[in-house]
Amino acid sequence: MKKIKINIPNYEYNVYLGNNIFNEILKLLKKENHTGNYLIVVDKKVSRLYSNLIDTTFAAAKNKVIKVILESTEKNKSYSAIQKIHSALIKNNYGRDSVIIAIGGGIIGDVAGFAASTYMRGVKYIQVPTTLLASVDSSVGGKTGINFDNTKNIIGSFYQPKLVLIDTNFFKTLPKEEQLCGLGEIIKYAFLINENFFTLVKNNLDKILANEPKVIEKVIIESVKFKGSVVTSDEKEQGVRKILNLGHTFAHAFEVQQDHKLKHGQAVIVGITCALYLSNKINLVNEKDFSVYLNLLTQFSNKIKLAKVDKKVINHIMQRDKKNRDNQIKLVLLSKVGTILTDINVDNSLINQSISEAIVHF
Ligand code: NAD
Ligand code: GLY
Repeated sequence: MKKIKINIPNYEYNVYLGNNIFNEILKLLKKENHTGNYLIVVDKKVSRLYSNLIDTTFAAAKNKVIKVILESTEKNKSYSAIQKIHSALIKNNYGRDSVIIAIGGGIIGDVAGFAASTYMRGVKYIQVPTTLLASVDSSVGGKTGINFDNTKNIIGSFYQPKLVLIDTNFFKTLPKEEQLCGLGEIIKYAFLINENFFTLVKNNLDKILANEPKVIEKVIIESVKFKGSVVTSDEKEQGVRKILNLGHTFAHAFEVQQDHKLKHGQAVIVGITCALYLSNKINLVNEKDFSVYLNLLTQFSNKIKLAKVDKKVINHIMQRDKKNRDNQIKLVLLSKVGTILTDINVDNSLINQSISEAIVHF
């Protein structure tokens, strides 16, 4: 089992990574003193596929264990999901020593984390990501939240988990489409980290999609280490953490405009493509790099299909992005692999032109 330390001052925690390690969770929780009554928030599909494993593993727990099963849809990433978790906690007399354990993809992690951050002003939570996307990105860094009023992740908190356990064995049941979503965030890290990682990802796209264990482990380790270092220097996204949102202002708007038929990881690929076109338009990225980068992003053109795109609606939704200031959209754009610019103001007409050019590929 590998261990990566996330060193956020006062909120340090470990990310454990391995294959078939879920059954060690109680041992790890005990070792790190995260004992108490457990409330497991589990994705409905994961519960169906892994209830035996989850139940037998937790049968040995000394304290109470209850489960809340949620269906992972963006519509369910809502106040009503939070209420279900809080009601279960209250009904079972769970106190401040409760530990909430999220087992599922990014939706379960975000919802369970937000419920943990608000129950009794904050109880511990643990992330057990079961999708590739949640393993490389959402389970680490402490962004929790729900959607509201047709706006992605608009209600939430920065609240770090106490422990993250990534068991790559869960990926064996992931649909291909979800593996591609994970690849979407991995491609984001390819642009953020450095040329070596970019090349590794570019040369191993098929292996990532095929869930090849060695490559998968390598990309998870590199992504988590990188995200950990960024979040350690800027937990609350006042500065450098903004780079983790490359393509996301576009992506979140596409997700809503496409009525969530476009999944987050797919939307990230579309969003980075828009950001790339825009970066090229304002001469941040040169023609040679532009074509290499575009070539990577458009490898998946036939796997991501957009319904009718309404640019006016996309633009309108982008106006509500959390990074905006002074009523202006503040974008994260790209100069070169490893060189990301944040808080960029760009004329709306250029944003719309970039959307038009990017969507031709999807
Ligand atoms: P998800 O949580 O919707 O899971 C994807 C699908 O896979 C669901 O249908 C789920 O039931 C299924 N599933 C999960 N694990 C499975 C398994 N092992 N086998 C079979 N099926 C399985 O989606 P996601 O891509 O994991 O996460 C996307 C969400 O994460 C979005 O809401 C996004 O906004 C959020 N997110 C948050 C952060 C953050 O920093 N907090 C970062 C990135 C994304
Ligand atoms: N997914 C962006 C972040 O965690 O900051």
